[in-house]
Parts: sequence; structure tokens; C-alpha cells
Amino acid sequence: MRQHSRARIVPAAAAAVLLVSLVGCTGGDGAHGGGVHGTPGAAGLRDPYFPRLGNGGYDVRHYALSLDYDPARDRLDATAEITARATQDLSAFNLDLAGLTVRRATVDGAAAAVNRAGNELTLRPRDDIDEGSTFRVVVTYDGTPEKINDADGSGEGWLKTADGALALGEPAGSLAWFPGNHHPSDKATYDITLTVPEGLRGFSNGERTSERTAGGRTTSVWHSAQPMASYLAMVAVGRYTTTATTTPSGIPVLTAADPSVAAGSAALLGRIPELLDWEQENFGPYPFSSTGAIVEPDGDVDYALETQTRPVFPHGAFDVPTLVHELAHQWYGNSVSPATWRDMWLNESFATYAEWLYAEDFEDTPAQRGFEKAFADEANWAFPPADPPTARDLFAPPVYQRGAMVLHRLRQTVGDDTFYEILAGWPVEHWHGNASTEDFTAYAEDVAGEDLSELWDVWLYGDDKPDSPDAP
Ligand code: ARG
Ligand code: ZN
Repeated sequence: MRQHSRARIVPAAAAAVLLVSLVGCTGGDGAHGGGVHGTPGAAGLRDPYFPRLGNGGYDVRHYALSLDYDPARDRLDATAEITARATQDLSAFNLDLAGLTVRRATVDGAAAAVNRAGNELTLRPRDDIDEGSTFRVVVTYDGTPEKINDADGSGEGWLKTADGALALGEPAGSLAWFPGNHHPSDKATYDITLTVPEGLRGFSNGERTSERTAGGRTTSVWHSAQPMASYLAMVAVGRYTTTATTTPSGIPVLTAADPSVAAGSAALLGRIPELLDWEQENFGPYPFSSTGAIVEPDGDVDYALETQTRPVFPHGAFDVPTLVHELAHQWYGNSVSPATWRDMWLNESFATYAEWLYAEDFEDTPAQRGFEKAFADEANWAFPPADPPTARDLFAPPVYQRGAMVLHRLRQTVGDDTFYEILAGWPVEHWHGNASTEDFTAYAEDVAGEDLSELWDVWLYGDDKPDSPDAP
């Protein structure tokens, strides 16, 4: 019995009903076929922090993005082909897109009417889409992609660099470069095709399946075979020094560093195989089919990000703890992704705890030391990790440090054997899926075979700092 149950996403169908009056209904015009008429999909998924992020009524299966970028003109010419399954009868549905100009959209080959209101793109297909059916949307768009300012002031979206661009962003940068369902609950596979001027190169998530140069343009194709939340999608365009190797367990590693920081990052890049395999020993099988990293000059990007398979680092943040942290996210955050942005601590607590475990395994510093330091720092007690007060607080210290303290107290309560079983079992339990805070607490209690509500009440949900590090 959890007294802390949180508000959940309003069912899409309920939200859709509200929108009928706003978007209108095709019913009654007699123009399009017969049968039951659908209703418009919701314009948002009612995330507690970003209610308009994502869209209801469908579930994206696959994105095939074709991005042609010319840094000299800072111009993107693009096509997004989206394969989705309808979760209701749809007369219209939304895609999230910030900036850029939509030239044309089709649904199953037929031109669709497009309306734009802010970041919401409404597509009305010629024929209604039946619940359960798979449909294909093609959007052709272009323009100068935007940098987006996150609630905490960080820049994300499409970031122009000296020789190219970097596209990434958590929580919501990806809508600046492709239309889609930009909420972490709708994960999909991706094929990303990048075309850039000859002399530059493009990098993205997953495996590069081809790269060729013709007519002064270089085109590379990147395949992400495992589902990915859109905030983990990444594109890097520029001049890069690259390395390719495999981990001892056989996972391909591809790294790319800006030439100005390549020498300075080479040694740490060389440790990825060893660190990834160490994480597999502790966190269970690596969830993806390749790994690597992108290292950028400091001014290019405000924060390191665990972009799927290939995290991105500003050079100044490319150190052992941050590398261990971003690789750990591949299990915690990338394979098991938050159900809503309120579940953010599930990402950051495990990634932070991975840093404490590294200190324990490699530097003879028990995780207890990380816990004690975090306990002593008042900044970590501003709010409970399971409930950041505003979107601005999603990446604040309590989410990371107090989140990791929750895990450490869990370890102390259930013992090492059970704790490591939870560490490795949790990503398997929600392999390539999504999970909420309540899913985690229930899972941990299940594995431990005991009621842990006192622990959650004090460390995860409690407003105040406990009197002692041994509480409760
Ligand atoms: N998840 C990233 C990390 O590993 C941080 C992202 C920060 N994003 C932001 N908007 N501040 O720590
Ligand atoms: Zn993190």
C-alpha cells in the first residue's frame, strides 16, 4: 500500500475527447469513405512537467530520418518517415516539431492536411486510421534548426558548432530537428541518414551501415536496432578523429573526437572497452549492439548526455566519473526509460551510484564515502528525488545525489547479494521499455521479499533530511 501514489498520465482517449472541439471532426462531410469515424489524437501525454510533450492516439514503431545539413548556410533539408500503430480510431493526430518549415506531409501515400500551432503539428489524413492498424507518415521539411533553451537554462536541440552542428537534448531537444512523438514513453527504432559536405562527417546512434561520397556530399547511414527514446537521439556533424575497436566481450566501439580535443581525450576513450565490460559484470548484459563516445570542444555543448550507444561529452566533462556515469545510463535510462519525467531520479540515481561503485572497485574508496559526502551536502536536501518541484529541478542535485543515497540505503537494508540482484535485474525486468518510480519500489520489495515502505518514505519521498544517515 503506497501512500505516495502519484498522478498518472490521463488516458489518451479521455484527452482526445477534450480536443475534438478544438481540432474539429471530419464526421459528416461525407468525403472520406464510410465506417466509424475516428477522433483526433491528444496533443500531449499530460506529462507532469511537460503536458504537451508527446501525442496521443498512436505509438511510433520506427523513424527513418534523412537529414541533409549544410553548415555554411546552417540549413537542414529533411524527410522524416514515421511508421506508427494507431491506438484509437484517428481522424487526425499530432507530431511535435519546433521551428523549421513543413513542405508536405503524406499518410500512407496520400497527401495529408497540415496545421501548425506552436510546436504542435496536426496532420489530418485523407482517410481515418483504424485502431490497431499500422500507418506510414512522410513529412518533408527544411530550414535553419533552432537551439532550444531548457527550463534550467541549458541549450539543447540543434547546436551550431565551428565546423558543423551537434543535435541532442534532454529533456526535449529532439523536436528541434525531427517531427515525432517526443515523450520518453514512446520508444522506437531509428534509421538516420546524414548527408554533409565532403570533408565533414556525420555521426549518430547505433551502427553505421554505410558511408559514401558522391558529388561533393558524404552520406552515412546509422541504424538503431533497439528501441530509443527521442531524447537519446543524437547527430554530430563536423571534422572528427575516430577510433574503432571492440570490448573484450565483443561489443563494437566507435568513438569520434573533435581534432582540437582528440589528443586530450585519447587515453580515456581507450578505457571504454574495459569500463563497459566492468559495468556488464555489475549491471547485467549490455542492452545495445554497439557503444562509443563523442567528445566536443567545451563551448559546443552545455552538458554530457547519455545519447544512446554513443554518449556526448564536452571535453571539460570528459573524466572517469562522467564516462562511467553516461555508460551506466545505457542500462538505467536508455534500456529502462522513465515512464514520465517525474521518474527522472531512476536515471540519475543509478548513474551516480555507478560512480560510487567505480570508486569502490577501482580506487579502494567504499561507496559509503560517496553516501556520507552526499549526506553532508545541504544542496542535496532541497526536495525529495521522487518529486522535483518544477521542470527546472529535474537535473538538480537531489535527483542525482539523494537518488544515489536511496540506492545506498537500499543496499544497506537488503544486503549486497540482493542489492546486486536488483541492480542487474531491474534493466532486464523492463528491457528496452519504460518504468515508473512505483514500478521500481515494487520490484525492489519483490526481489528483497520484504516491505521497504519506511525506506522509501524517508529517503525517496520525505521532505526533510533525516536526523541520522542510519535512519530509519
Ligand atoms: N542526463 C544528463 C546526465 O547524465 C544530464 C542532462 C542535463 N540536461 C539539462 N537540461 N540540464 O547527467
Ligand atoms: Zn546522468
